[in-house]
Amino acid sequence: MKEQLEKIYSNAAADISKAASISDLDQIRAKYLSRKGEFNEIKKNLKNLSDEDKRVIGTLANEITVKLETSLKEKHEEFYKIELNKKLQQERIDITLPGKFIPRGKIHPITSTTNEIVSIFQSLGFSVVESAQSPEVETEYFNFDMLNIPKDHPARDVQDTFYTKLASNVVLRSQTSGAQIHVMEEQKPPIRVISPGRVYRNENINARKNNFFHQIEGLYVDKNITFGDLKGVLNEFIRLYFGSSRPTRFRSSFFPFTEPSAEVDVQCIMCQGKGCRTCSGTGWLEILGAGMVDPNVLKGVGIDPEVYSGFAFGMGIERLAMLKYAIDDIRLFFNDDLRFLKQF
Ligand code: DAH
Repeated sequence: MKEQLEKIYSNAAADISKAASISDLDQIRAKYLSRKGEFNEIKKNLKNLSDEDKRVIGTLANEITVKLETSLKEKHEEFYKIELNKKLQQERIDITLPGKFIPRGKIHPITSTTNEIVSIFQSLGFSVVESAQSPEVETEYFNFDMLNIPKDHPARDVQDTFYTKLASNVVLRSQTSGAQIHVMEEQKPPIRVISPGRVYRNENINARKNNFFHQIEGLYVDKNITFGDLKGVLNEFIRLYFGSSRPTRFRSSFFPFTEPSAEVDVQCIMCQGKGCRTCSGTGWLEILGAGMVDPNVLKGVGIDPEVYSGFAFGMGIERLAMLKYAIDDIRLFFNDDLRFLKQF
């Protein structure tokens, strides 16, 4: 039995010295030292021996077990260190690698142009109408009726305005002018507001026209407001937006909700008034519509036109951005081309 034990020990010691990894050691431990291992098989037979032999063989078996445990443990530590080092090598962080690039967002040029125009009018004492007060889905009442636009006016045609299926009188607003009515129905003069937002028109899309775009509406109603005030405010706006050296002109025009009405031009940005393709040879670019609020509109909202007067104006934001930044196609604003958007 003693020889048997020594044989097992020398086999186990040989196995341990040949082991190449922690998992080899685990297998060796299972083979020799587990409950079903070779040593236990021998220990089971101890009970058949004499007391003296039991003591001798038992002691020997214990000594051998301890020796094997010790060398397994030593080997285990050795392999553990090797494997750990290997892992540390493989997983080492290379601090010289370039970082991950996270692209930075930008303000959309329509948003920044809107912000710029809004802050100019704020500096002139206008306040901003909350968009919730003047929605994009609108009734004909606000978009047309109360703005003195006749029932048979061509702007009401489905060729121009998008009608919804919500109800026969519900449209996508074709202009921000309805904001004037919302404000005047809620608020008594003095009124000095602007209202930026999106409008929709049933257009064939091309470089100059899109079927949605953005406008800013303005309204100033108080006692003794004159056309001179209109000119003063709009000239000041143009001076602040385009720079002081840009000449302007006011041309007589027509809008159903203003009387008299005007269109305002600035000298062509591209040719400085000489005449070019952008200004169709005229030397001038139209940038906004304006006028004195029609007495019918004031009456409609319960403001006495004998006591109060006012002016209104509306301008296209895309157009103002295109002129300022020399952009020649309105579609560029909306087709999500980052090469374009990154420039602003
Ligand atoms: N709503 C007009 C348009 O869409 C622009 C406009 C013209 C607005 C004259 C006004 C105004 O408030 O007085 O073309």
